Order: sequence, then structure tokens, then C-alpha cells
Amino acid sequence: MQRLAPALREDNVPLDLISLIKTILAATKEISFRVSQAHLSGLMGSTLDENIQGEVQKQLDVVANELFKDILLESGFVKAISSEEEDTSVAGNPNGKFIVSFDPLDGSSNIEINSLIGTIFSIHNAQEDMDADDPDMFKQSGNKQVCAGYVLYGPATMLVMTTGSGTHFYVLDRTHGGFLRVERNVQVPKDTQEFAVNMSNQRFWQAPMQNYINDLLLGDTGPRGKNFNMRWIAAMVGDIHRVLTRGGLFTYPADTKDPNKPNKLRLMYEANPMSFLIEQAGGKAMTSEGRIMDIEPTDIHQRVECIMGSSNEVDACLGYYK
Ligand code: AHG
Ligand code: MN
Ligand code: MN
Repeated sequence: MQRLAPALREDNVPLDLISLIKTILAATKEISFRVSQAHLSGLMGSTLDENIQGEVQKQLDVVANELFKDILLESGFVKAISSEEEDTSVAGNPNGKFIVSFDPLDGSSNIEINSLIGTIFSIHNAQEDMDADDPDMFKQSGNKQVCAGYVLYGPATMLVMTTGSGTHFYVLDRTHGGFLRVERNVQVPKDTQEFAVNMSNQRFWQAPMQNYINDLLLGDTGPRGKNFNMRWIAAMVGDIHRVLTRGGLFTYPADTKDPNKPNKLRLMYEANPMSFLIEQAGGKAMTSEGRIMDIEPTDIHQRVECIMGSSNEVDACLGYYK
């Protein structure tokens, strides 16, 4: 097992990016502590506010967002940040080399049930010719990410991260307070017999997704000729962690439940960073129309359809759209 910084130096990650990653991890360690103490410090339940996306904010969403934002902006390493919980991007050091997009707390509906939650982050290079307060700086495709990862606040606090040379697992060792690399170059198995989707939306999906999932449910009596298991943690960090660990297909398909919101997951804060991790582990991360990371963003809060995981199973699913 290797400590984080030496592991990153071995992967030739530039020193200023290592410093930013360490800053991010300092924030997540604090969030991990606050999460564990939330019930004791009166931080359970919702606020009276909604975020820009019209979602009710949990108290911990706000605490995690403030912590992450403040630590990043004070560090001097970032030119601006953009968060799921902020109306627009927030300017930092005009000379900062990086910009960071993040979902400070993913899986908020799991807070009350003491189940899996996490923090997702995505790092791009800042554009030198743009003002720090210009949100257009964040309109960069997922292909341009220099680092992406998540920290999962589970039985173990785990960091899963890529800087473009494989996806690696780290565990927070509380005996010395640092993250240790426990698995290098994680590989998503190409084939799987497990899928993850919120089945309660089934009647709102497009026909291809309905047909695909129906065939999975038919198991060895249907055209797929094998049985499938289903899991849904309702936190993308938890579901993607399972896919990275043992394979699977994860999807949040387009639906017609709310005509103003055909897609649920956010490109910048969820889909792009998870796509980078999945692809670096040999999996696929798609919409029904193409690679997620090829999308040129038009809005920092835009949402996107997600079909990702074991490559052969993603192909099988996309075959229904042809
Ligand atoms: P967040 O808690 O940041 O709003 O994200 C929740 C997301 C994602 O993590 C998860 O996969 C999905 O929403 C769950 O959606 P349903 O509640 O519709 O199952
Ligand atoms: Mn989320
Ligand atoms: Mn969130």
C-alpha cells in the first residue's frame, strides 16, 4: 500500500495538481467527520431552501458545500469553482491554474437512513484568457478533465480517482489521517449480470430502454439467455463504486416524468467525472447518442442521460436504440 502523494508522483502527476488534490482531500476528511457527527450536532433534515435546480437542500448539502468551497477558494490553487449547490460559478484566485466542479454531497436522500453518500469532483485547467468570474470557463467537455474522483463516506472512507493513467482506489487510514492506495488500475469486467436503474420510472422511459430492461428481466427465458440481478443505492457514488468493483450496467435514462426535466444526472458534477473513472477502468460511459465526455456543455448545470459500466453490456443496451 502506498501513500497518496508518492503514488501520484510515481504516476507523473504535476506537483501543483497534487497540491490541489491534497486540498480537496482535506475538505473531504472534514466532510466525512461532519457526516459522522450530523445526528449529534443537529444537522439532520432539510433546510428551508431550494438549490438552483429546484431541489430541496439538506442541511448537510449546505455544510458540505460551504466547507468544500471555502477550503478550495482559500487554497489559491483554483481560479473558480462550480457546484451543484451554487447558482453560478464562484471566482477564486485569478492566477489559479485549475477550476473544480463538484457535487459536495451525492445521495442526499441516504443521509437520514445512514446509508452511502459521497463527494464527487472534476478538475479542468483554467483558461488564462478568461475572467475568474466567467462561468463560461466551465463549458469544457469531459475529455478535457485533468483529474476526477469521488470520496465515498461508507464503512470505510474511500477515494476513487483518476488523473488519466488508470483508476485507482485509496482508503482513508484514520491511524495517520492519510489516504493509502489499496488498488491500482481497477478494471470493470466487460460482461455482467447485474444492472442498476430506478425501476419506479419504467413507464416514463423511451421504448428502447423499456425493451432492453424487459429483456434483462426475462432472464434465461428471454433473448439474453441469462439471469440478471438488480441493485439501486440511489447514490451514484455507491452504484458506480459497485460497478467499478465488480462490474454492472448503471443507467439513469431519459424519462417523461417531468417534461421540464428529461434527465436527472448533472453533466459537470456527476456524469463527466464518473465517465472519466469508468473509461479509465476499461468501461463505457454513454448517452443513447454518444460518449458523455464528448458533449460540449452549453450550461454549467445541464443534465444528461447516463448509460455506463461494463462495456459489452453498455453496447447491448445501446443496440436497442439502433
Ligand atoms: P444528489 O443527492 O446529489 O441530488 O444526487 C442524487 C442522484 C444520484 O446520486 C442518484 O443516482 C440519483 O440521484 C437517485 O435518483 P432517484 O432518487 O430518482 O432514484
Ligand atoms: Mn448527486
Ligand atoms: Mn448533491
